[in-house]
Amino acid sequence: MKRTTHRRNPAAHHGSDVLFRRPISRREFLRISAACTALPLMSCGHMLRGPGPNERLQLAKIAVGGMGESDLQELSGHPGVTFIGLCDVDARGKEKLAGKYPNATWFSDWREMLAKLGDRIDGVSISTPDHMHAPIAMTAMQMGKHVYCQKPLGHSALENRRLAEFAKAHPKLVTQMGTQRSAAIGRRQQLQLLREGAVGKFREIHAWSDRPAGWWPQGEKRPPGSETPPAWLSWDLFLGVAPERPYLSNRYTPFNWRGTYDFGCGALGDMGCHIMDYPFLAAKLGYPVSVRCDATDATDDEYPTKETITLQYESTDMTVPGGIKVVWYDGGLRPKNSSLGIPDDVDVRGNAIVVVGEKGSMLCPLDPERDKSGAIVLTDEPQVWNTEKGKLGLKLPALERRNHWHHWVDGCFGKSVPEANFAFAGLLCESLSVGAAASRFANRDLKYDAAAIAFSNEPAATSILQKPYRAGWKVEGL
Ligand SMILES: NC(=O)c1ccc[n+]([C@@H]2O[C@H](COP(=O)([O-])OP(=O)(O)OC[C@H]3O[C@@H](n4cnc5c(N)ncnc54)[C@H](O)[C@@H]3O)[C@@H](O)[C@H]2O)c1
Repeated sequence: MKRTTHRRNPAAHHGSDVLFRRPISRREFLRISAACTALPLMSCGHMLRGPGPNERLQLAKIAVGGMGESDLQELSGHPGVTFIGLCDVDARGKEKLAGKYPNATWFSDWREMLAKLGDRIDGVSISTPDHMHAPIAMTAMQMGKHVYCQKPLGHSALENRRLAEFAKAHPKLVTQMGTQRSAAIGRRQQLQLLREGAVGKFREIHAWSDRPAGWWPQGEKRPPGSETPPAWLSWDLFLGVAPERPYLSNRYTPFNWRGTYDFGCGALGDMGCHIMDYPFLAAKLGYPVSVRCDATDATDDEYPTKETITLQYESTDMTVPGGIKVVWYDGGLRPKNSSLGIPDDVDVRGNAIVVVGEKGSMLCPLDPERDKSGAIVLTDEPQVWNTEKGKLGLKLPALERRNHWHHWVDGCFGKSVPEANFAFAGLLCESLSVGAAASRFANRDLKYDAAAIAFSNEPAATSILQKPYRAGWKVEGL
């Protein structure tokens, strides 16, 4: 769904009704905190409650608005799935979905839901804003639940690292980040061709997005003022681990939180996982060794409106020696085609990635673009320009269609291994968190000390890369 204007009016996004009432009271806070300290944080081997061959997978959904509604529909479209718990801090979701999930109990606090239904839940799907992904995913995994979590996986570098480590250490847990485009045939062809050497060893990777302009606010100062949250919203639960700030209507929730440091990762976090995942995987990249963001208008509260972020990595057996750089452009910036080995008349607007290799360059637009008549004017199939032969007529591998959500469900039944599992997604998203952190120290060369999860020449960044949680929100393992 293309958004051309900021969605600052939540009523335009949700129906209106009244259910949840007020900011959480101290008494309720203490009750829920007590329930949460009682969450069974055991080793997954003990807790895993995978479905038997004839059983259904019992799922809980955290966040049902926006992408959460799509996730809910897609997952419940799998014949083996039953939702037994639904949770949203915006009570209007319950009314909107009334009657659709008769086996589900509704909650406003995910901690209470996990505490109450934990022994019946096999897996959870998380579609909250970015800042709550890791706290919920880590808690669920520690309870032995399979997890489908929206992208980007974590908000901070440390969160991404810990989620990846936990997933690797507990291979029976089936995990998937919500990069549904990675199931598209064109994208999987891209991965296969890159691995087979279509451009030779990788020299550079360049990726860009047309966002944030026109999609959500970014590059603005922290807005002044304070409003009483509406009765249908639990603002304190929306904030979750984030520092306290006053509620403002049409400003953060729904959708407009993306450009705010405390809640989102800017355009890089929003689109980077979709665009960069397979080239990153094919190149076998690890942690970045350095990063630089070129931008001019980051503020005290939001990422810049446009930026170029250059991440440097050590070489792998898929790259040329001497290291490889990955450059991200957003807000309408992008490199000239000719600098990437692609003819100038090729249309590469929107969101795309180019892998420049020793034998040629591969272009992969994220989505196909159509003209007014519906004809495809830009394909999402990979295209390769060879340095000697020009554009290659590629024989694209024949691949079967795949549903990204169902692939995860099938994984929970032991029938598939999702590619966007957390071991990979955490590694990829750590780079995005490092890039997003660099936006706040723009126009400086920063050295990333992966062992310490810190910039060795900018100690002030540690509180971003390893951000602290609000008092009362300690999450084991993060
Ligand atoms: N894969 C994709 O193509 C895609 C597309 C859009 C969004 N997303 C991702 O989905 C996530 C949500 O984005 P969105 O655009 O739907 O945002 P949104 O603000 O429109 O919707 C978020 C929903 O989460 C609810 N929520 C917020 N905090 C919550 C909490 N602590 N517990 C329960 N519910 C909570 C909100 O009330 C709302 O219903 C983000 O991580 C985003 O990156 C992915």
